[in-house]
Amino acid sequence: MKMDQLVSLCKRRGYLFQSSEIYGGLNGFWDYGPLGVELKRNVKEAWWRDMITAHDDLDTQPGAPGAYEMVGLDSTIIMHPQIWKCSGHYDLFHDYMVDCRESKKRYRHDQLRGRWVTAKGKTIFVTTQAEDEQDDIQRHALKFFNLRNKNAEQLQWDGDVVSLTSVDDLTQVLGPDAKELGTLTDPREFNLMFKTIVGALGNDDDAAFLRPETAQGIFVNFKNILDSTRVRVPFGIAQIGKSFRNEITPRNFTFRSREFEQMEIEFFCHPDSSREWYQYWRDRRFQWYLDLGLDRERLQLRDHDPDELSHYSTGTGDIEYAFPFLPAGEYGELEGVAHRGDFDLRSHMEGKLDPSTDPLEVELNEHGQPKWRGSGKDLTYRDDLSGEKYTPHVIEPSAGADRATLAFLCEAFTEDEAPDEKGKLQTRTVLRLHPRLAPIKAAIFPLVKKDGMPELAKQIYRALKPHFNVFYDEKGAVGRRYRRQDEAGTPYCITVDGQTVEDNTVTIRDRDSLEQSRVRLEDCVDEMRQKLT
Ligand code: GAP
Repeated sequence: MKMDQLVSLCKRRGYLFQSSEIYGGLNGFWDYGPLGVELKRNVKEAWWRDMITAHDDLDTQPGAPGAYEMVGLDSTIIMHPQIWKCSGHYDLFHDYMVDCRESKKRYRHDQLRGRWVTAKGKTIFVTTQAEDEQDDIQRHALKFFNLRNKNAEQLQWDGDVVSLTSVDDLTQVLGPDAKELGTLTDPREFNLMFKTIVGALGNDDDAAFLRPETAQGIFVNFKNILDSTRVRVPFGIAQIGKSFRNEITPRNFTFRSREFEQMEIEFFCHPDSSREWYQYWRDRRFQWYLDLGLDRERLQLRDHDPDELSHYSTGTGDIEYAFPFLPAGEYGELEGVAHRGDFDLRSHMEGKLDPSTDPLEVELNEHGQPKWRGSGKDLTYRDDLSGEKYTPHVIEPSAGADRATLAFLCEAFTEDEAPDEKGKLQTRTVLRLHPRLAPIKAAIFPLVKKDGMPELAKQIYRALKPHFNVFYDEKGAVGRRYRRQDEAGTPYCITVDGQTVEDNTVTIRDRDSLEQSRVRLEDCVDEMRQKLT
């Protein structure tokens, strides 16, 4: 599947629109249209239900080291700025960027890739941002050396396409949009948090930040939840909500946006069993994507290398998907499952911890005082049965609602052949979304707009509507109506035809197999319930 086919289907059918489109758009921001909003809600609802409301607190789940409880939270987007100092985001949440003095464009240092090439006695590193990396590098190199396509053999390549981070001397680098060498600046740090001012009279002392993750809202409410509920460790707190990151190079549709939604769990457990819980959550979350239709062949769980780990983490496994916009063999992160140890609770108690020391110590300023003060509140846990007091360790499965939605869309997009009304095979585009995720669960059609068929079809629509999101359509040829629903990802179409008027049965067409079965009109609700739940 080509990514531009999916992007155009999303626009055409009302899944996704560029934000502020009539004003030329705003890079890194996306709006979900009528079908998109339903799909994303279904993704979030499936997560919330599977992780929280349907979770059995009393029984040990398969693969888990014991029984556990799950509760939810909805914390604010803007929080006390001290939270971001203690969490490490104020000091450490940055990317490195390089600017091009010639094109005035800005790039993420680690995302620019290129290849060494020699021609006419000169060796340079040619960079690219294009999906077809090698082709683009070659085009750019030929232009730079003033060579024609037919002289491409004069280019002598050295090594594979690698990241710009492997290049020390930027004077030999040709920027992706530059004509001259050495126009990229040295990498500079860029904090990803959006800053805002709280209050009408606010000045810089009143600066606050839009949260870059939902996780910190959970940590700072840990004590409130312990005090207001009867949860005992091990337990998890889950939250779904918007997060904001001023990404230097937002790209790949919604994959890297500046405003996005996260679905995060902070799971609190005893330090001695934390490795087992870490394993449990990695497996559990991986399986969730498979259950909702992602193909095992396109999904992988990859452990972070030690130098890749975030400042708080002693182990992270990324659940990754082979998105079609990535080069063959490459995967993009859907979700990170991190072992955060006691980093966050201790930081919010004591002050910002120094991730370079082991065990973590409070980071001190030049006067020997804590660099950023913690809340000073006791965030330890006291086990009422054993009497043991300790700071729980945290396992964090952190998923992106937009990335999951995008992966489900990519997986679902299919082109196959189906017979039209005359039996002739035609190419059809179909979104094979899992029925739990499909925005519309069933479409109801009268075959023709006469002979009492619309009345019966509306009767079915009204019987189903209180239970499922169903859609009524009587316009145009029935074949065209089927095709529209295939593109929208609707798993079932219910059609009232001539036979309905005679024997009170309707056809139910399956989107994927194209099989049609007849059921009694009064059994439609039960039949749909069986198929969809
Ligand atoms: N609390 C940990 C945390 O935020 P992360 O790996 O930075 O970890 C977790 O983010 C998930 O949030 C990612 O796996 C991804 O699904 C989603 N995410 C992160 N940045 C994103 C962005 N710019 N656009 C869309 N989704 C993003």
